[in-house]
Amino acid sequence: MNDMSAIALTAETETAQKKVFIRTYGCQMNVYDSTRMEAILAGEGYAQAAAPEEADLVILNTCHIREKAAEKVYSELGKIRAMKREREGAGRDMVIAVAGCVAQAEGEEIAKRAKGVDLVFGPQTFHRLPEYLARHRETGRTVVETEFPAEEKFKALTAKASPGTAVAAFLTVQEGCDKFCSFCVVPYTRGAEFSRPMAQVLAEARGLAGRGVREVTLLGQNVNAYRGEADGGTASLARLVTELSSVPGIERIRYTTSHPRDMSDDLIAAHAENQKLMPYLHLPVQAGSNRILKAMNRGHTAEEYLDLLAKVRAARPDIAISGDFIVGFPGETEAEFEETMALVRTVGYASAFSFKYSPRPGTPAAERPDQLPEDVKLDRLHRLQALLLDQQQAFNRSCVGGTFPVLLEKPGRRDGQMIGRSPYLQSVHIEIPEGGPGFGALVECRIEGVGPNSLSGQYVRQTA
Ligand code: SAH
Ligand code: SF4
Ligand code: F3S
Repeated sequence: MNDMSAIALTAETETAQKKVFIRTYGCQMNVYDSTRMEAILAGEGYAQAAAPEEADLVILNTCHIREKAAEKVYSELGKIRAMKREREGAGRDMVIAVAGCVAQAEGEEIAKRAKGVDLVFGPQTFHRLPEYLARHRETGRTVVETEFPAEEKFKALTAKASPGTAVAAFLTVQEGCDKFCSFCVVPYTRGAEFSRPMAQVLAEARGLAGRGVREVTLLGQNVNAYRGEADGGTASLARLVTELSSVPGIERIRYTTSHPRDMSDDLIAAHAENQKLMPYLHLPVQAGSNRILKAMNRGHTAEEYLDLLAKVRAARPDIAISGDFIVGFPGETEAEFEETMALVRTVGYASAFSFKYSPRPGTPAAERPDQLPEDVKLDRLHRLQALLLDQQQAFNRSCVGGTFPVLLEKPGRRDGQMIGRSPYLQSVHIEIPEGGPGFGALVECRIEGVGPNSLSGQYVRQTA
């Protein structure tokens, strides 16, 4: 070992002493934001800690969508604070940060309610994290930042590469929401709709492809409302998908979450024309009753939703449909709930998420006097979930005997087994013969079995 490498090694050991632990709650957008925070902090010399008690900086990247999600944060903060005290007892510091949508919604309140919190910042300002850390170090005071400069954030982030060796990655292209569904906090926590310029997105995708990513999932609260600046005008999501599919190395493209009102004809056509665009569409409807949809301020009827799906299925007959549902919205009658059940039976979902309505402070629906009792909401949730589970299992069973392309993502539990994703987003466990392909390979797989949450099958051949 020469002197130079000895110096390099010392410097590395010193910087590696700083560690960060990030716990992520909520949607994929938060998952993406956490990877970006990791990238920013890596530039500041932070390594990743395996557990919060080993970390100099603990970040909770939080979700405010339902009461339970927000409450989890406070119980977690209690535990982290006990760890902080223990570390302080041993002469080591721990900085506690609350990021994400609870931070945006509650700001100062967090610092008041949970003692020991050092940094509070919303989803739009995490690119300034190094500055917040420095300010906290200098003043010893809690730093609270909840502004909305989305454009500045994405410019700052583009310069920093995401770390990681994943085969599939998220890429935020749109953020925020102007729809103001009467139950939802997102327009308040993520701000107005904003789309990243197309060139910026393509540059990030090329960077991801260069690091071995083969599948990108484009993210946005209303991703199909994407209108990114391009060639002096704007590009739609369909145009972005077309451009992305010619980025070398990118084999698969997905997008989520879409709103029925923004499901344009060019995007539907892309599902017919573009083989890299995966046949899976997450299109939440929330409810099957037009009166409830109106009270939710969704801006579409059940019939309009069903017509849309008919067009999508005409373009891509094998497309798997997924959705989100809320049961027990204020004033929902049993008959109106049955309309949701009927809509689900008509559509036939491949997968879905369903929730009990949770009143959120500051949203119009939370102010309504006709809130339903918990037991009514829970009973409806159980009935809907039983139906959705039946449909998911039926969809999975319908895949048995078929041969599908699978992107290999990680090792399975057994030797020689790998786990990948089907075009329909199912996890697939595959037996790979010795000397066969590894991560990042696209293989054909013959589906032979169905587990509770996944499929299993035999390797046929490698295609890419
Ligand atoms: N932008 C997406 C949804 C983002 S929130 C869309 O419009 O579809 C994800 C899901 O959480 C929503 O689709 C909805 O089903 C659920 N959700 C949002 N607010 C809720 C609330 N107050 N109570 C229960 N579920 C809620
Ligand atoms: Fe929330 Fe509605 Fe916006 Fe979706 S479209 S993020 S449910 S307000
Ligand atoms: Fe939750 Fe914020 Fe996502 S409220 S669902 S983390 S946009």
